[in-house]
Amino acid sequence: MSAVLELRGVSAAYGPFRSLFEVSLTVGAGEAVALLGSNGAGKTTTARVASGLLAPSSGTVWVDGADLSGAPAWRYARAGVAHAPEGRSVFATLSVEDNLRLSFRQSKGRAGVGAALDRAFELFPVLAKRRHQLAGTLSGGEQRMLSMARVMVDAPKLLVADELSLGLAPIVVDQVYDSLQRLREAGTALLIVEQHVPHALALCDRVVLLGHGAVAWHGSASEAPTAIPDKVFHQA
Ligand SMILES: Nc1ncnc2c1ncn2[C@@H]1O[C@H](COP(=O)(O)OP(=O)(O)OP(=O)(O)O)[C@@H](O)[C@H]1O
Ligand SMILES: [Mg+2]
Repeated sequence: MSAVLELRGVSAAYGPFRSLFEVSLTVGAGEAVALLGSNGAGKTTTARVASGLLAPSSGTVWVDGADLSGAPAWRYARAGVAHAPEGRSVFATLSVEDNLRLSFRQSKGRAGVGAALDRAFELFPVLAKRRHQLAGTLSGGEQRMLSMARVMVDAPKLLVADELSLGLAPIVVDQVYDSLQRLREAGTALLIVEQHVPHALALCDRVVLLGHGAVAWHGSASEAPTAIPDKVFHQA
């Protein structure tokens, strides 16, 4: 299996503060990997390195066999890495449909907008029902789905998702996870940061557990419940 993402001995720092210490991990093509750990363990930092938003201070980042260490984020995007934006990154004063049209025009070109819209509404029926509503008036969960629809229709090679379910009602979390599952079935690999460990384990094949900025454990999702500490398992 070829790796869509490989971090080799990655360290990262915010100014003088070192946050990652020689983290190595691999996400194979079409594979789903959960990135777990307590608060401050380095999950978000690792996710940002994986999508090119933060350059490693040492070590290398490989996407689809190419060394992209230190390259700008758009090169990661062009290589097929999508970063699911946290929170509510939608245009509040545009309708749901216009939000989607705008981003599909950028990613697909004018001719591809119609098909992409159909696909987005198929993935997220709730957005179809609300296509004429202003995005700023959607609920938090619906806004999250709108951000995800923009990413997912592009069928990235890898989706890096940081705390997608944070602050969402359980039923909406289930919908988000259904969408991730469908995305997986369509061939997208996943690197998922998630506080709610049972959800992550149900979706993912493998687990990388971070502690104090380093890999503390890695193994299959089925071994994880006995291998990872209770405080990580039950922090949600
Ligand atoms: N911009 C920053 N400047 C300085 N230190 C930072 C910055 N961002 C993160 N850190 C530090 O880096 C470490 C790792 O943070 P990170 O956000 O990666 O943790 P996390 O595992 O995502 O935690 P959480 O579960 O709370 O989201 C923490 O000690 C944090 O305080
Ligand atoms: Mg975080």
